[in-house]
Amino acid sequence: MHVIGGTASTSLAERISRELGNAPFAIPFLKRFPDGELYVRVGGRMEGEDVVLVQSTHNDEGLLELLLLEDAVREAGCRRLFVVIPYFGYARQDRSFFPGEPVSARVMARHVELAADAVVTVDLHSPQTLQAFTKPAFEASGIPAIARLLREHPVDLLVSPDRGGVERVKRMAQILGLPWLALDKKRIDSEHVELTLPTGTTPELQGKNVVIVDDVISTGGTIVEAARLLTRHHVATVGAACTHGLFLRDAFERIKAVTHHMYSTDTLDNPAEKVSVAPDIAQILRRDLASG
Ligand code: R5P
Repeated sequence: MHVIGGTASTSLAERISRELGNAPFAIPFLKRFPDGELYVRVGGRMEGEDVVLVQSTHNDEGLLELLLLEDAVREAGCRRLFVVIPYFGYARQDRSFFPGEPVSARVMARHVELAADAVVTVDLHSPQTLQAFTKPAFEASGIPAIARLLREHPVDLLVSPDRGGVERVKRMAQILGLPWLALDKKRIDSEHVELTLPTGTTPELQGKNVVIVDDVISTGGTIVEAARLLTRHHVATVGAACTHGLFLRDAFERIKAVTHHMYSTDTLDNPAEKVSVAPDIAQILRRDLASG
């Protein structure tokens, strides 16, 4: 297999090539035309080769780069093209919430798979998005990677900031043998949320080392509110862990001010990146795609 790393995912692509036994790794050439349009070129011989193209689709430029690179790799004569999208942009618009809206996640799935033989992504916002692909599509999980990391830290309790994250926090709690708790979240707007402890019996919080686990940290509003709520209940330390660290604007600093630790995987380059999902992606490439 040859591995190509797009601009949004160069480091992770290199790690994946190492996990694949030092598979040949290349970075494409990119430039902008005077009118701002993107130009890409992939080098090297690819006739008859299986190519793994790694590129997150945040932001829109990342998406466009991926589409152009897919075609470039096809033109270079590859045998099969496996597209790895560590962070799958637009995944949160996974349904039409209000009349007149698109199902953006489906639109992206249909377009990114066009030139691909298979797609691999990580922690989609909702697993149903996999069904929007018509080609073989696989979802790696960021949970084992974060669990590998948390195993090395003192943690007493895992917390999901919302009910939507129950399966995630439950799975991580199971791996680590820890109790878990899911908060109740009410979204006020795209930047503000209200969080409360669930009614009924909740695990003891006072004096505990707690880690909030989420799929994506975007504006940081969710984690900041969750950390404040847990601090008001006298936890000893509060950490924040996510698969996808977008950390928009001043999110990193705002979270740093209210937490003791921040942990993220490398699906996006970010300042909290502490563990790689490369082994988890490489496992899918080897197990499900290498033969054939
Ligand atoms: C929401 O359902 C997600 O799981 C995250 O909690 C959310 O996207 C985080 O966004 P933000 O950092 O902007 O609060």
